[in-house]
Amino acid sequence: MNYLIISGNPKGGGLCQDVTEEALRGAKDGGASAGTLLVEKLERCHVCGEGWGSCREQHKCAFEKDGFGAAQDTVRKADQLCFITPVYWGEMAESLKSFFDRLRRCEFGQNGVLSGKQILLVASPGGSGNGALSCLEQMDRFCRHTGAVIFDYIGINRWNNDYKKKAVYSAARAMTEGRKAGTTL
Ligand SMILES: Cc1cc2nc3c(=O)[nH]c(=O)nc-3n(C[C@H](O)[C@H](O)[C@H](O)COP(=O)(O)O)c2cc1C
Repeated sequence: MNYLIISGNPKGGGLCQDVTEEALRGAKDGGASAGTLLVEKLERCHVCGEGWGSCREQHKCAFEKDGFGAAQDTVRKADQLCFITPVYWGEMAESLKSFFDRLRRCEFGQNGVLSGKQILLVASPGGSGNGALSCLEQMDRFCRHTGAVIFDYIGINRWNNDYKKKAVYSAARAMTEGRKAGTTL
């Protein structure tokens, strides 16, 4: 299995980074080859034309040379994915949202690069702990628009990360070992 983490975390240390390492460790222990895609250097959608550009018919972004095309290819090659983000303003990090805005336009529907692929969703709020639910809901909507299959939702914060890190590890491992969303244990 080729397992890919897409992260919106701009920091090198801290809770979100710890969680990312657990999501990597779980996937490797599950037998997957695992990597991380960072999207913070990519530009936002230019909103071409009157709302649509080449994304609609060609499934390519007109500005793909900024690294978006390469990132889209990396997603294409992944069998399973994990989206991890710090919670900012009750939403995913702006860099991740910008990437998803562009990717959704290219990959909307049942024939795109995410269609049918299992995804683990992880949101890490830090201060109040508020906003995990709205952030996960935002990622959920992206998955539904692109036909991805949500494997699990995990919200992790300052006071639950002792047991939630174990949940992230276990979810990544179970998914990469072959468990399917919808299976009854
Ligand atoms: C611009 C900004 C907005 C934030 N909004 C929230 C929020 O809505 N809820 C929350 O609990 N934490 C919020 N935080 C804190 C981050 O979620 C927190 O830094 C991160 O998720 C996890 O901790 P880490 O920085 O140690 O990785 C915010 C941080 C920033 C920089």
